[in-house]
Amino acid sequence: MLETLGLYPSWYVPVIGSAWVMGIIGTIHVLASHTSVGASWLFALIETKAVRENKPELMEYIKKYGVFLLVFSYIIGSITGPGIWYAITVASPKGVGGLIHNFVWVWAAEWVYFTVEVIGVYALVYLIGKIDPKTHLKLTWTFALASWATMLLIVGILSFMMWPGNESWYQTGSTLDAFFNLNFFAHLGLRTAFMFAIAGAVGGILAATMKDKEVRIEITRFLSKMGIAGVFLGLIMWMWYVQTLPENARIIMQTQLPSYIAPTLFAVLAATLIYFAWSAWKPLQLKQGFAVAMTAIIAIAGLWPEERSRESIRKPYVAGQYIYSNQTIARDVEGKQIKSNLPQIAEHGVLKTHPFTPVSLREVTETNRLQAGEFIAKVMCANCHSMENTGLRPMPQKLHGSTDVAMIKAYLGGALYNGTVPYMPRIPLPEFEQQLVAEYLASLSQPQAAMKQLTLAESR
Ligand code: HEC
Repeated sequence: MLETLGLYPSWYVPVIGSAWVMGIIGTIHVLASHTSVGASWLFALIETKAVRENKPELMEYIKKYGVFLLVFSYIIGSITGPGIWYAITVASPKGVGGLIHNFVWVWAAEWVYFTVEVIGVYALVYLIGKIDPKTHLKLTWTFALASWATMLLIVGILSFMMWPGNESWYQTGSTLDAFFNLNFFAHLGLRTAFMFAIAGAVGGILAATMKDKEVRIEITRFLSKMGIAGVFLGLIMWMWYVQTLPENARIIMQTQLPSYIAPTLFAVLAATLIYFAWSAWKPLQLKQGFAVAMTAIIAIAGLWPEERSRESIRKPYVAGQYIYSNQTIARDVEGKQIKSNLPQIAEHGVLKTHPFTPVSLREVTETNRLQAGEFIAKVMCANCHSMENTGLRPMPQKLHGSTDVAMIKAYLGGALYNGTVPYMPRIPLPEFEQQLVAEYLASLSQPQAAMKQLTLAESR
């Protein structure tokens, strides 16, 4: 009996691809979560000032921003957080499994801190003016530290996804080796800087509504300083972060990212700086609408391309430089007793070793060749390429609309079989399956492709 690979059914999302589903949920989540964590520090800093300089009127602002966070960030954050879990579990089950096997206690700890954070924000808003200010200040700092702890723990996991950065984890399999990976500190610094900037921008939405002029000026200037500090810290951390990336990530950054990304991010950075400088200079001119617009610009033109790029440059891996985005295990990990799937695929192919190959495709005949090719292509390529002409790295476009089976097959047998493209997984399909995939991929660009797809779908 042939050993099957530990693969799950593939989640294929037409038109945009599964990666974008995660990207969209993830970007909304990052916006909400970083705003909350940044705001927790803002509260702690402003309240420290309020207690030291005896300015209880500043607490009015914390109350407003706190309620706003509860209604927006915490609700959006707690919907999109589980949303990410659902999406990654179906899109990338092996990837999630790999992370859980490394970090289950880290996640458990994160949930404890998160609970403290959520109780903290309720208590903090409710108890303003009800308990003595010094005790309240301690509560606010506890909230801030617990919030930041959730970020710290998640960043350890996220940065392991990029790579461990050294060989020791592959030997020991230890959680600490995985957590304190090469790009952990730089990544944490980058997100910490961003949380200050985004909390500063969102903070303006509330600051602009403060009735007391003095308070409004003082708070707006405080937000500006925090925002500017965040942007500069972010730039420094970015330069450090890039130094901690693996070779494949640098190659993708230099050669494969869409050309609009760098100028867009640069423009957003410049706009953010100008916005903060201007609001520090003329705090009373800052209107709610500007702050809303700035937040939207940062989210759509800054965060979305940034999160997308971070996902892209990690390719071909989804985690730890040992699990490919298409869920196959690409190398042995002694510390975890994990064996590479590639020799098995090279020898027996996907159809015979995938536990979810439909029964009708276990034997390939003249009539089901195209379906068999489609199955293999969707298992092996669709996590990173949509099969339509839309969405993520559309396959027909990547093949320049080619209908030439021999040429496509040569690519599969050369570049992909031998792993000469650093950003794509080495996919050692046996010769027979290369032929099937090539026939299917060629059919995508044939004029009657749409028709064929239809008949295929019907015949299933
Ligand atoms: C882990 C993700 C991933 C998987 C899986 C993947 N690719 Fe790619 N592929 C990429 C990336 C990244 C690029 C670079 C272009 C880009 O980013 O737009 C790319 C580019 C390509 C190109 C353009 C030529 C080139 O070398 O840049 C072709 C053709 C291609 N892929 C075919 C395939 C086929 C066929 C499969 C499945 C057998 C596959 N890819 C699986 C990530 C992947």
